[in-house]
Amino acid sequence: MKIAIILGSIRKERATEPVAKFIDGIAQQRDGDVTYELVDLADFDVPLLTSPVHPMVANKNHDDENVQKWSDKIDGFDGYVFVTPEYNHGVPGGFKNAVDSLGQEWVGKPVAFVGHGSVGGVRAIEQWRQVVANFSMPVVRAELNFSGFFDWNDGEFTPAERHPGEANEMLDQLEALVAKIRG
Ligand SMILES: Cc1cc2nc3c(=O)[nH]c(=O)nc-3n(C[C@H](O)[C@H](O)[C@H](O)COP(=O)(O)O)c2cc1C
Repeated sequence: MKIAIILGSIRKERATEPVAKFIDGIAQQRDGDVTYELVDLADFDVPLLTSPVHPMVANKNHDDENVQKWSDKIDGFDGYVFVTPEYNHGVPGGFKNAVDSLGQEWVGKPVAFVGHGSVGGVRAIEQWRQVVANFSMPVVRAELNFSGFFDWNDGEFTPAERHPGEANEMLDQLEALVAKIRG
């Protein structure tokens, strides 16, 4: 079983990076034969979606080289953790564009959410739950919410003590869902 932890911010000096690395650090310490990989969206330089071919119809064959690399990477996983900031009470545009740029790669695969923002990215996560429904992606109920008020101190990421336990609970649920889907 392979699960991607997707770092969903492409901004320079992004605050999402330590959050994604924190989740990945916990994932790498888990017992079991699940492989976790941190996938940084910024490494793929996914262009704005202008292709005339609907990504779902493209069936994993994309006309843009960078989109194809993104497709090949995402297609190799059985499940995902979306680590998402919240921009203007919604999902971040760059991440949404990258998700929109693929189709079959996502279909039917479970996903869990980690958000951050002033109220833990909850509004972005609620929007993501609506978006991934179009790919028939089953979603894990447990989520992690990192707050700029409680998990950062003088600009430094200082995650609250409860988060490692929450992360393991969320990953337990995700692994169980992936196992159920794979049969
Ligand atoms: C354009 C923009 C809009 C934002 N809007 C919100 C918002 O509506 N609610 C919120 O809680 N945080 C908001 N934030 C803060 C981010 O959610 C988050 O805390 C972080 O600073 C941005 O993540 P990043 O550095 O990885 O891009 C916003 C940040 C940016 C850059």
